[in-house]
Amino acid sequence: MCGIVAYLGSQEAYPLLIKGLKRLEYRGYDSAGIAVLNGEGLKAYKRKGKVQELEDFIHSTPPLGKAGIGHTRWATHGIPNDINAHPHLSGNGKLALVHNGIIENYALLKAALEKEGHHFQSDTDTEVLAHLIEEVQNRGQLPLEEAVRIALKRVVGAYAIVVISQDEPGKLVAARKASPLVIGIGKQEFFLASDATPIIEHTRKVVYLNDEEIAVVSLHDGMKVKTIQNEVQTPFIHELDMELESLEKSGFDYFMLKEIYEQPTTIADSMRGRINVEENLVRLGGLGNHIDKICQARRIIIVACGTSWHSGLIGEYLIEDLARIQVEVEYASEFRYRNPIITDEDVVIAISQSGETADTLAALELAKEKGATALGIVNVVGSSIARLTDAGAYIHAGPEIGVASTKAFTGQVALLTMLALVLAKKKGTINPDYFHRLVAELANIPNKVEKVLEYDAEIKYIAREIKDRHNALYLGRGCNFPVALEGALKLKEISYIHAEGYPAAEMKHGPIALIDEQMPVIVIATNKSAYDKIASNIQEVKARKGMVIAVVTERDKAISEMADFAIRIPDTEEPLTPLLSVIPLQLLSYYIAVMRGCNVDQPRNLAKSVTVE
Ligand code: G6P
Repeated sequence: MCGIVAYLGSQEAYPLLIKGLKRLEYRGYDSAGIAVLNGEGLKAYKRKGKVQELEDFIHSTPPLGKAGIGHTRWATHGIPNDINAHPHLSGNGKLALVHNGIIENYALLKAALEKEGHHFQSDTDTEVLAHLIEEVQNRGQLPLEEAVRIALKRVVGAYAIVVISQDEPGKLVAARKASPLVIGIGKQEFFLASDATPIIEHTRKVVYLNDEEIAVVSLHDGMKVKTIQNEVQTPFIHELDMELESLEKSGFDYFMLKEIYEQPTTIADSMRGRINVEENLVRLGGLGNHIDKICQARRIIIVACGTSWHSGLIGEYLIEDLARIQVEVEYASEFRYRNPIITDEDVVIAISQSGETADTLAALELAKEKGATALGIVNVVGSSIARLTDAGAYIHAGPEIGVASTKAFTGQVALLTMLALVLAKKKGTINPDYFHRLVAELANIPNKVEKVLEYDAEIKYIAREIKDRHNALYLGRGCNFPVALEGALKLKEISYIHAEGYPAAEMKHGPIALIDEQMPVIVIATNKSAYDKIASNIQEVKARKGMVIAVVTERDKAISEMADFAIRIPDTEEPLTPLLSVIPLQLLSYYIAVMRGCNVDQPRNLAKSVTVE
């Protein structure tokens, strides 16, 4: 969702805020703003559009001051425009606030404040909070942090906020509930942000605020943390493990392309120290003694959203097939509200790249409340989901900046594959030779991903054939059915072409009605076990003049001859094919989107990390 950045120290705040906002822009990019404090008071600038537009607007007269807050927005309440952009000021203009999340009872609070004579400029929930803090402060003559604490007690919803006040310079007050906030600690300076990406170039020492905690950072008194209930906390300082280079495009046109090309490395990183072919070993240290619990579980429930939900579906195929444990995959948003039956015999696994998705987090909380073992497969270290779980495994894909997820997906699938192997071995449900073949082949997958990437130019050529179509259908079977869903999602997300993924056999029950010469059908045809059936599905498409793009294995003959275009991937063991078959679909979507002139890294209306419901 939105991105927050704030600075307090001895440097000029403005350039740090702008640079930080650019780093955070992947979180939201419909408007941006800053407020900087100096001896003359607070100076706020807000602009609809990208951070660059804000910078151009401020242009040659950047505000001076050594404390400030900034925000890049993904609109919830109120359309994206200059007025609704953050920071929002209190009625007397002395206090400014940036906010991520949603204040659910803002209408009630607003009505009460209006009765007290407050007037509002914007349509946002955030402005209401700025006025509420001011009202609480004025009534009780309270210090800023106390006013923030009392105001937040009246708030229902989710928030990460940073507040700055001209009456109390040399101080910032921050708080979080269900929306992340990280505080970087430098030498006599503090960097606050909604994730670590703008902080890493300044300091590696960070504190992750916990839910319902308030932090005060002050040039005189350092950092103090307490809860909303007024209990003093001792903050734990973490060391960031992230490379600055991973936040740069490194010569690629877009982060998404860079991240697609990183996959040989990121898949290898997800397996580092976990797979040993010589010793025929797979181990997931982070899950430790929970492996026995999973083996004995009544069932595994995977909760996730978006692309992570698709990787969960692949996990279902692999774990059920290899380890014979029942798996259910649920949209976190549905699971959390449908009063699901969960017991302490269940294991719930949350899959999330960001580790911050509001619905996934809430689904996991619910599972924990009901006594289930709560595990996580997460990319962002120290994220909320990672901290909530009983145990888990990081995928180690590094920061993913492109809004459309690519390397996180393959990292998740690699991890779920390892999990299926660990469980299958422990339960004795897998033939030892087959286990060994899968382990050896999995270790070799990064090399095979390299090979798929060599077909880049051919995939680009095919993209040209599809770029002006209005619809596309993706078909797959078995563990490649979720890959079809993921391929369709990628196309929708970044090129705005309507696309649907279907199990290949299900085409006859509806989507076949759509097929004519205008309809490209992308078929994943790498499953040996269902080869003839997929060939029949392709014939059905051809008979109705659809254009077939088939993803096939290198030595394939029959389907390649039938298809209008064939994309070849190296042969591998069938359960591992998703790790290869998804790569051409990512590239295809990427090139189609570029050819259509779309902003691939920042597609319209989407956000990288969905921290509101
Ligand atoms: C958003 C992103 C998707 C992502 C989904 C789940 O919709 O745009 O790319 O798959 O959230 O995010 P998570 O961080 O939980 O994997």
